[in-house]
Amino acid sequence: MEKTVGQQLIESRRTIRMFVEEPLDTALLYQLLTSAHQAPFHNKVEPWNLYLFNGDGKSVLLDALEPAFRDGPEAKREKITGRIRNAAACIYVTTKPFETEKGQKDALLATAAFIQNFHLLCAEQNIGLVWRTGGIFEDARLQEMIGADGETFVGLLQLGRFEDVPPTKARQSLDTCLTIFE
Ligand SMILES: Cc1cc2nc3c(=O)[nH]c(=O)nc-3n(C[C@H](O)[C@H](O)[C@H](O)COP(=O)(O)O)c2cc1C
Repeated sequence: MEKTVGQQLIESRRTIRMFVEEPLDTALLYQLLTSAHQAPFHNKVEPWNLYLFNGDGKSVLLDALEPAFRDGPEAKREKITGRIRNAAACIYVTTKPFETEKGQKDALLATAAFIQNFHLLCAEQNIGLVWRTGGIFEDARLQEMIGADGETFVGLLQLGRFEDVPPTKARQSLDTCLTIFE
């Protein structure tokens, strides 16, 4: 069977970590986020919150990271700052607070689905993306400074146009994780 457009998109999507210097239009990102916002969710409201730092807006994120940078080694500041500067835009993704463990778990799962939706839509537009989960982004002072206090950090998405596509990370055969009853 010839692969469908959906199959090809899912199979060709890669994590991109190095970007070229080219800005991204906020209107385009808004449009892609609007479509990603159709992700499934099982809470009363969409569980994700998104903080978009585009172009010069990334300085707000870097300022918010400053207290955490001061607590750590200089090399870490340089590494993380370099990655944020290299990306055209960053999106800080959280889940809103939910009271029950079940609510929190559903929120996290739905937000991961949201991120994957967005990653695929970016891939379709030749926008590279890496989903980062480094602990420094959970810093409470950072969260307070961007207005995300009390929320659960899910990922910092760094995005931009790119030239090089890293090789596919090999997957084990589906048979190693699939049990069929028929
Ligand atoms: C929940 C999650 C957390 C991730 N965190 C990071 C991260 O902190 N840094 C990073 O470079 N990549 C991160 N990644 C990207 C993975 O390393 C990447 O998806 C994996 O190597 C497979 O490559 P592919 O996305 O190109 O298929 C994360 C991916 C997921 C799903």
